[in-house]
Amino acid sequence: MLKHWKVAVTIGLLAVCLGWAFYNGLVVKKYTVNTDKFNEDQSIRIVLIADLHNHIYGPGQSELLQLIREQEPDIIALAGDIADDQVPLMGTEMLLEGIQGIAPVYYVSGNHEYWSNDIRHIKDTIRKYEVTILESGYEKITINNSAIIIAGVDDPEVVKYEKRRSTWEEDFYQAFSELRKEPAFKVLLAHRPELIEIYKQSHFDLVLSGHAHGGQVRIPFILNGLYSPNQGWFPQNAGGMYDHGSLIQIVSRGVSFNPRLPRIFNPPEVVVIDIKGNRTIK
Ligand SMILES: [Fe+2]
Repeated sequence: MLKHWKVAVTIGLLAVCLGWAFYNGLVVKKYTVNTDKFNEDQSIRIVLIADLHNHIYGPGQSELLQLIREQEPDIIALAGDIADDQVPLMGTEMLLEGIQGIAPVYYVSGNHEYWSNDIRHIKDTIRKYEVTILESGYEKITINNSAIIIAGVDDPEVVKYEKRRSTWEEDFYQAFSELRKEPAFKVLLAHRPELIEIYKQSHFDLVLSGHAHGGQVRIPFILNGLYSPNQGWFPQNAGGMYDHGSLIQIVSRGVSFNPRLPRIFNPPEVVVIDIKGNRTIK
């Protein structure tokens, strides 16, 4: 009798563990970034979406849109690979239509959007939904009485597809050199997390990326990612928040979903970032 009970408990625990490992519903991942560039009563909330790859969550993207709306963001950041080179653009258009009016939306390209060989059409479609496309550019905006710079770069594939003579790195430094003395809090949207050494040499306070898909396979508390494109096995920046001193890096594990490539202990995520002031008001 005792033996049967033990077998039942073991099977039950295994079932729970498998359910947890292969859970692929959308989750919300929250981070807080503190800054002395804001007063202690100031804050800005960014919702970060990366690597949708045109996947559709519920009729008309209803599941994804509801989660985004519930966060009440001040800014929505789309960090590349929202569209895809293999899947029709419908999922992206549903997302863009649904987030109109929630908050200002900023977008940077990812590698898959270039691989489509249709980047111009993708960007024209995205522009139709009043999204600001950042291509080595930036905007200074004021939200909740807090000045913030939001900047962004195209994916490095731009150099190949636009046959540029300069390197992506040269263009990056050139584009943002004038921000060096800018005192406002500076956010960079850049699809690739593995280029952190380049971002660290700029003067941004926060960089938001995707691309790594959380390293596809994770084991809680043991392994933060098995494999990520351009980082290889056991990636350093697969997903999470990384403190690089004056620069904080947040890497979304993305909202990608590919049934042929299961995500293990790695559900697709909507990322919420609260930038909170810690400067004392005198
Ligand atoms: Fe990517």
